[in-house]
Amino acid sequence: LQVIERVQDMSRWSEVQRRDGRRIALVPTMGFLHEAHLCLVRDGKKRADRVVVSLFVNPKQFAPNEDFAAYPRDFGRDRGLLERENIDVMFHPAADEMYPAGFQTQISVDKLGCFLCAPHRPGHFQGVATVISKLFNIVRPHVAIFGEKDYQQLQVIRRLVRDLNFDIEIVGHPIVRETDGLAISSRNIYLSPEERQAALCLSKSLSRGECMVRRGETRGDVITTAVRAEIEKEPLASVEYITLCDSATLETLEEIREAALLALAVRIGKTRLIDNRILKPLG
Ligand code: PAF
Repeated sequence: LQVIERVQDMSRWSEVQRRDGRRIALVPTMGFLHEAHLCLVRDGKKRADRVVVSLFVNPKQFAPNEDFAAYPRDFGRDRGLLERENIDVMFHPAADEMYPAGFQTQISVDKLGCFLCAPHRPGHFQGVATVISKLFNIVRPHVAIFGEKDYQQLQVIRRLVRDLNFDIEIVGHPIVRETDGLAISSRNIYLSPEERQAALCLSKSLSRGECMVRRGETRGDVITTAVRAEIEKEPLASVEYITLCDSATLETLEEIREAALLALAVRIGKTRLIDNRILKPLG
């Protein structure tokens, strides 16, 4: 495993791989790797000759009141995990390498960056779109892999790639869950044992919505009300949003006629968790 810290060195490495006709996969992460990241890495290995994992806690995607300083970091452990996966490069730039003095450009994906999490996380998707554009230009991958837990992020990146003509295949990887249903996330580390148990209300409530749709319910407000009621049974949980929306545009749906996205954000104690599921109506 080669650890690269400089933008110039990363670009040079990729240039050599491309010149030799090798296909490069990029898995962008903020580190503190867990099983879901490793699934993305393994997916990348199947799709390319070389895998680059970027590890950068991107300050631009955290609002001032968010957990940038507290975001879990463990470089040694991450390195060990990637060594075991036998991947090629870990790109680990410092903040001033990515955003040197004078940096002032922002990428904004207007509409998709307005729904779901956006009103609750001002500047978040601009921060993601900006860092991903930079990573794409630096690493020049042929394919990049993202988890579907961050569904809105994935849609923002798909749009960005189309709009700005990045010649990169974007792959969404299905949500990886613990055996009891909790979607794996770096932020699960914040949960106390009691909160960890309470956090099951996210996946349970999505199953409730899914069940209703399977039985023929199509009204958005009826479904989201039932999902909310399921979460509100849990005293440690408070709902930030629950939305049933078009899976491509993310616009709220009153009625579902084709596969739609049920997405939610819930605070368990102080920890903000997200989860989602694609619901397919009958027939
Ligand atoms: O999903 C994440 O971990 C981050 O948002 C990403 C895509 C690595 C950009 O910083």
